[in-house]
Amino acid sequence: MLLQATHLSKSYGNLQVLKNVSLQIDKGSFVAIVGPSGAGKSTLLQILGLLDSPNKGSVQILSTPLENLSSKKQAAFRNKNIGFVFQSHHLLPEFTALENVCMPLWIAGTDKETAQQEATKVLTQVGLAHRIDHKPSALSGGEQQRVAIARALVQKPVIIFADEPTGNLDTATADAVNKLFLELKEQYQLTFVVVTHNEQLAALANRVLSMKDGEIVSDSADRLI
Ligand SMILES: Nc1ncnc2c1ncn2[C@@H]1O[C@H](COP(=O)(O)OP(=O)(O)OP(=O)(O)O)[C@@H](O)[C@H]1O
Ligand SMILES: [Mg+2]
Repeated sequence: MLLQATHLSKSYGNLQVLKNVSLQIDKGSFVAIVGPSGAGKSTLLQILGLLDSPNKGSVQILSTPLENLSSKKQAAFRNKNIGFVFQSHHLLPEFTALENVCMPLWIAGTDKETAQQEATKVLTQVGLAHRIDHKPSALSGGEQQRVAIARALVQKPVIIFADEPTGNLDTATADAVNKLFLELKEQYQLTFVVVTHNEQLAALANRVLSMKDGEIVSDSADRLI
């Protein structure tokens, strides 16, 4: 098992957004999280990906209990093991595609030349070899999202979390990005956890979790047992 979340709860004032959620995710799985707006999907994803902390409960990834790590150690763990892709790409506008993808490697202390080689490799793989010197504003929405995917991949993380990664894309571009996810998953033996309203993307998953009102109300993995 790659990830184990136990009894996660999260509230904002009187609003309980996550209610005692527990789940386990196996290495190599492709998990889609679906459910209505406000169900708590993004909140769960942020907590699983260590971008937010729960009021109660714990998350273990690679058998490492994370809640007691200092924030510096948590950030280092995240940088090494976890990739994130958001609905809007969150690229840094003043940097080129190549520099944006180099960023996680630079933060981890990789030397400039090695970082550029690695970043170029991943950008080539997502089909952007010809656009690496462009800034985000000169790229299309689908290209920007592929840069964001390359940035999430460049550290060879064990798990990638994506929050509505195709939410801002037209159908054809979304289909291309979905296909890319599947290819990358196979190639790198990645684990993907994706919040999505896109039915094609959910259909690629080998496990679908449905959330409602802060709870997981169905888990397709239960049907396999
Ligand atoms: N920082 C915050 N402060 C207060 N309430 C919040 C905060 N973040 C989220 N919420 C509330 O928590 C609930 C769950 O939000 P969340 O973003 O997890 O939903 P979601 O399932 O991702 O919805 P969507 O499909 O619209 O993205 C919502 O009612 C939201 O308004
Ligand atoms: Mg959301």
